[in-house]
Amino acid sequence: MARGWSKSSWRAKPRVQMPDYPDAAALHAVEAQLAKYPPLVFAGEARTLKRHLAAVSEGRAFLLQGGDCAESFAEFSADNIRDTFKVLLQMAVVLTFGAKVPVIKVGRMAGQFAKPRSAPTEVIGGVEYPSYRGDIINGFEATHEARIPDPSRMLQAYTQAAASLNLLRAFSTGGFADIHRVHAWTLGFADQDKAERYRELSSRISDALDFMTAAGVNADTAHTLQSVEFYTSHEALLLEYEEALCRIDSTTGLPVAGSGHMLWIGDRTRQPDGAHVEFCRGVQNPIGLKCGPSISTDDLKVLIDRLNPENEAGRLTLIARFGAGKVGDHLPRLIRAVQEMGARVVWSCDPMHGNTIKAASGYKTRPFESVLREVREFFAVHKAEGTVPGGVHFEMTGKDVTECTGGLRAVSDEDLSDRYHTACDPRLNASQSLELAFLVAEELSSLRGAARRIAL
Ligand code: PEP
Ligand code: CO
Repeated sequence: MARGWSKSSWRAKPRVQMPDYPDAAALHAVEAQLAKYPPLVFAGEARTLKRHLAAVSEGRAFLLQGGDCAESFAEFSADNIRDTFKVLLQMAVVLTFGAKVPVIKVGRMAGQFAKPRSAPTEVIGGVEYPSYRGDIINGFEATHEARIPDPSRMLQAYTQAAASLNLLRAFSTGGFADIHRVHAWTLGFADQDKAERYRELSSRISDALDFMTAAGVNADTAHTLQSVEFYTSHEALLLEYEEALCRIDSTTGLPVAGSGHMLWIGDRTRQPDGAHVEFCRGVQNPIGLKCGPSISTDDLKVLIDRLNPENEAGRLTLIARFGAGKVGDHLPRLIRAVQEMGARVVWSCDPMHGNTIKAASGYKTRPFESVLREVREFFAVHKAEGTVPGGVHFEMTGKDVTECTGGLRAVSDEDLSDRYHTACDPRLNASQSLELAFLVAEELSSLRGAARRIAL
């Protein structure tokens, strides 16, 4: 076990972005109840994901991590889970075909409830309220009462996460994700151009599968093709919840976070001596670390030492989120720091959180052009540094929302009010997500092309 660590050692460290529960007795009762519940994920699964991420760090696989900015109680439904899952599968197909490596699929799902906020209060209709911090903490409704942190929300979040995972596990192995159904995943594409590209690709995959069956290759691989491995992840923000679901893995004797397969530390809670880093350093799950423009090279080195002292491959994923136009200012210095240390990390690109702006209409949005540009810059820097661009991390939904502007089927500033449903940050819709996947696939196949030319 990590030295000096216990599942509650974070309590002695400075904490930010966490609620002060007014009713301590109610909080303790919830914590005690959650501590008795079964974990949502199992240590062996977290270890398997870590092995896959080790392959990602060496360029032998690619990480696709995406889902809601904030899951909400109100939007919880089987249809929403299915649609998000379906878009992730479609993206994975496009990426696998482009990159010719396995794609590791990780949802921001089944636990992504707690949100860091830029200010402790927000003004709505001229009235100042405590900020909304995600459904696991307080209510979205603009009333003083709804905004009081309520510990019983943790129980509802647990129940929702358990039901979501149950459905995701069924989708992953129960036939829905069978690659032979690749054509059926075509969500009513409104965008004809994109639909055409996807159908063309689906046909090529179907042809390849038919050929394999005819050639008798299928027998051994049938199981692999009929199911997918799908993992869950969320920001480990609400540490009372994380501690209550922390368990000892009976195989290794090591602590594991039972709330999701992969946890990440947000850009606002990554203080090296803070509570969030303290909790995450002691659990054996794969850990993500958001790296925004304000991260110093020295802090990154301390964080790597603290979070991955054994330099285990697959343990740490650095999620770069600088904003379009800023990747070149920051990523090279961080890559060099990692190389100086000889640290093994996965580099992933979050092209969402550095590109949030306020539209003239007052809506928070993200220009899709900036999202694509940040991804291109991420690939270009890795190419220049000779390092591995390992994955992407983004906020999306399977629903046809209008939250980010732009895309082939352009969403304009004025359109934002049409279907703006997010409880927090603007998400890519299904069509924009697929467009992003095509771009990443092109970048990856050009990298492969370059590698092949060097090898020759
Ligand atoms: C998020 O991923 O939803 C988030 C808040 O990101 P960041 O910590 O990078 O701002
Ligand atoms: Co967000």
